[in-house]
Amino acid sequence: MKKNSSEKNVSNIWGGRFSSATDKIMEEFNSSIMFDQILYVEDIDGSLAHSEMLSRQNIISKQDFELIKSGLNQIRTEISNNQFNFSLKLEDIHMNIENRLVEIIGEPGKKLHTARSRNDQVATDIKLWLRRKIDEIDLDLKNLQKSLIEKAEIYYDLLMPGYTHLQVAQPITFGHHLLAYVEMLGRDRGRLADCRKRLNELPLGSAALAGTSYPIDRDFVSTTLNFDKPTDNSMDAVSDRDFAVEFMSASSLIAIHLSRLAEELVIWSSDRFNFIKLPESFTTGSSIMPQKRNPDAAELIRAKPGRIFGNLFNLMTVLKGLPMTYGKDMQEDKEPLFDTVKTIKYCVIVMEGMISKLEAVPDKMMEALQKGFPTATDFADYLVTNLDIPFRDAHHFTGKVVLLAESKKCSLEQLTLDEIRSVVPNADTNILKILKIKNSVSTRTSYGGTAPKNVIEAVKRAKLKYLGNSII
Ligand code: ARG
Repeated sequence: MKKNSSEKNVSNIWGGRFSSATDKIMEEFNSSIMFDQILYVEDIDGSLAHSEMLSRQNIISKQDFELIKSGLNQIRTEISNNQFNFSLKLEDIHMNIENRLVEIIGEPGKKLHTARSRNDQVATDIKLWLRRKIDEIDLDLKNLQKSLIEKAEIYYDLLMPGYTHLQVAQPITFGHHLLAYVEMLGRDRGRLADCRKRLNELPLGSAALAGTSYPIDRDFVSTTLNFDKPTDNSMDAVSDRDFAVEFMSASSLIAIHLSRLAEELVIWSSDRFNFIKLPESFTTGSSIMPQKRNPDAAELIRAKPGRIFGNLFNLMTVLKGLPMTYGKDMQEDKEPLFDTVKTIKYCVIVMEGMISKLEAVPDKMMEALQKGFPTATDFADYLVTNLDIPFRDAHHFTGKVVLLAESKKCSLEQLTLDEIRSVVPNADTNILKILKIKNSVSTRTSYGGTAPKNVIEAVKRAKLKYLGNSII
């Protein structure tokens, strides 16, 4: 048969059965090296464990393993020193590394891919990479919890309005408010730990989809790479990306929590509220209005869920309806996953920067409290408990007292006993104590309540629960 004139251009690793070259645009379209090169550490770790196992099982010789090992270590150094030429033609990180290995050590390099496929290789690489990132993010979240707890400890008795519907509801302590986020982040860390646990099974050794006829030892590779065990089904192992979806949904909740806190920071630092001062290091000026200090960091964190939810939907859509087992569709898992990791890390770290340096403005918090009649509920409760007035009626009388204070342009605690008696004739002097904001807060001592003495206990509990060494 006459040879195709373009045959000399066929140089892909898998080019054996091909008689013509890949189109240039196909090469670009098909390649993932532009983004999957960040997996090089994990790809090399996986290959080291795999080749050691091949040699222990006498599938390759000890000498070949030693050569492969030194070649892979050299490649690791080359890549980390930015001295590696990544090639689009070699598609992805796996083939780039393998090709370079053959360049460095010759024929033995070609034995590395015995008893494995890129399908089990890529699944292993992503799991190893994501596992490392989960541990990093857990630490970032823990640092954020630490800063929140430290601020809660400082502001354990600082009074501020608590809101519902963004209307002043009842007085709370700033420390209590900050600890609410510590709880949310605690659940977030729990979800990440959960995801990490389910992720921690080794796909390598599943080969392309069916397992392999070589006498491999999957347990050895699993232990070497710190997995709990090898996966039980080779087909599931190469087509599973649940762990990425789980991580991205856990990240979506982190993003939701951070965006809520970010929104509060925006509100609290606004001219109308002035409850807090954000650190200059995390705010920006305006190019035209010199007086401005804008909460850009908080606004960006408020916006990032857009990307993070988008990435989750992106991957779920890629995976839905995919037949068993591997399909090139799955190469599309990487960019959204990598972007989510990068974005969520940024958000957590930047939020920590803002929280650790923010300062409360107690006067402004108190001013807003006074205006909001936040002890109205305490007044109604007093009428119920002490004057035996049914709650609905008490609610009505309290409304009238609020109206009175409003017309006098004063706070509830500034009303005199006579003024109160004009609405509730048999009110006694105790009512004046009840209306004091400070007293109101200190009565909220039910477990989980806002009283300063509760906050002191809650800070202790949170330190024990969240700031120890173990992942939650
Ligand atoms: N770059 C590919 C990916 O990210 C690696 C696996 C390729 N496997 C294959 N059979 N083409 O998914």
